[in-house]
Amino acid sequence: MRITVIGTGYLGAVHAACMADLGHEVLGVDTDAEKIAALADGRVPFFEPGLAEVLSRGIGSGALRFGTSLAEAARFGDVHFICVGTPQLPGFQAADLSAVHAVINGLVPQVTRDCLMVGKSTVPVGTAAHLAARIGQLAPGGVDVELAWNPEFLREGFAVEDTLRPSRLVAGAASAGAHATLRVVYAPIIHAGVPYIATDLASAELVKVSANAFLATKISFINAIADVCDAAGADINVVANAMGYDDRIGRRFLAAGIGFGGGCLPKDIRALTARAAELGVADSVCFLREVDDVNMSRRRRAFEIARDLLGGSFTGRNVAVLGAAFKPATDDVRDSPALHIATAMQVEGARVRVHDPKAADNARKVSPALGYALDIEETCEQADIVLHLTEWPQYRDLDPAALGAIVRRRCLFDGRNALPLDRWRTAGWAVRALGRPAQTAARPAAEHG
Ligand code: UGA
Repeated sequence: MRITVIGTGYLGAVHAACMADLGHEVLGVDTDAEKIAALADGRVPFFEPGLAEVLSRGIGSGALRFGTSLAEAARFGDVHFICVGTPQLPGFQAADLSAVHAVINGLVPQVTRDCLMVGKSTVPVGTAAHLAARIGQLAPGGVDVELAWNPEFLREGFAVEDTLRPSRLVAGAASAGAHATLRVVYAPIIHAGVPYIATDLASAELVKVSANAFLATKISFINAIADVCDAAGADINVVANAMGYDDRIGRRFLAAGIGFGGGCLPKDIRALTARAAELGVADSVCFLREVDDVNMSRRRRAFEIARDLLGGSFTGRNVAVLGAAFKPATDDVRDSPALHIATAMQVEGARVRVHDPKAADNARKVSPALGYALDIEETCEQADIVLHLTEWPQYRDLDPAALGAIVRRRCLFDGRNALPLDRWRTAGWAVRALGRPAQTAARPAAEHG
């Protein structure tokens, strides 16, 4: 099939490359000419494991190309995937849908033959129905343009794997024809046994936000219990491990720590709250405000614990921060808890040096006042405290004794409950974490994500 992917950020670039890998002819389109030039050249403008290989395979075979013209996209595509961002509207809880509207307004009047528009961006429930009506007004006479909504569940860091081998395909559409087209698009994935769940537009939109809201709730739940652990002298890792044996609960997304960030979970719970209010059911999801509050309070707790460990003040202190990305295996720093905490300490007078194996360049752009070091040793040299804020695997393997020789004070805050704290204590470090007052068990290595 001839497929266009409009919007080539974390979602669209991966989707375009993976659609070419499935055997389609693909045109990726974005307004950012620099990004398009990089992708056309086979260079991934962000860090995503495995994407460079799939991208160069597509470009090399001629199945995948990139451009900036919606007119060209309109001429080319049988199926148009909308993958543009829907960030939080500044100053509001709701999502900013202007990029989605711009695609519909720009593309639909220019199509010359029947086609299917497929939304993948995360949108408030009801958006697709509204857009379908708008498409009806904009489509040239005699041309049939239908809209389906096919939310994306990929995780950054596992995006290629999640796109080619997803847990499920969910698609909302009004007609059997639209579902038939999508079944052709995803034929190799469906043949591999992945369920294709055909729904109406509203249910498809809601599956996505509900899934993210549930994951956010799970994280805030365990973080709230971590506070109870602190008060009661229990260990949150032990509690979560034991809870996770129950299949109904599961251990994943029960990693307590400084909480969730990124471009999805925080804005999606807020957008759902805003949409529920518009629909007159604000009270039904009011717990999501608590989920948000518990999450943001993690950052304050981390800041306070670090300040306590430093004797009550950051002024003039050297602070080493391990991790800037919102989670490991990505260079994305959008709403990163690590950067948030690092910046708060710097504002309070600390000299903060940050290390991240992939996200330092992005972090420098949004937080230029922080110091950045290329290696862990340089980051920790003469540090009064080391904060572990993003659980990259290499931090788990650090030698506390060797690191202890270069810091000024052996003082550690593990914000991700992922370090073997007994080893650090044995090496003479004063250690604090969230929900683990005296215990030392680390959480299992591979359960994140
Ligand atoms: C999330 C969802 O997991 C994807 O299914 C969804 O497609 C995506 O949003 C999206 O809407 O596009 P992602 O933002 O890549 O994916 O990141 P997650 O792996 O969900 O992690 C989110 C945050 O939660 C990170 O900051 C992570 O450190 C934190 N987290 C995760 C915890 O604090 N504890 C956990 O147990 C798990």
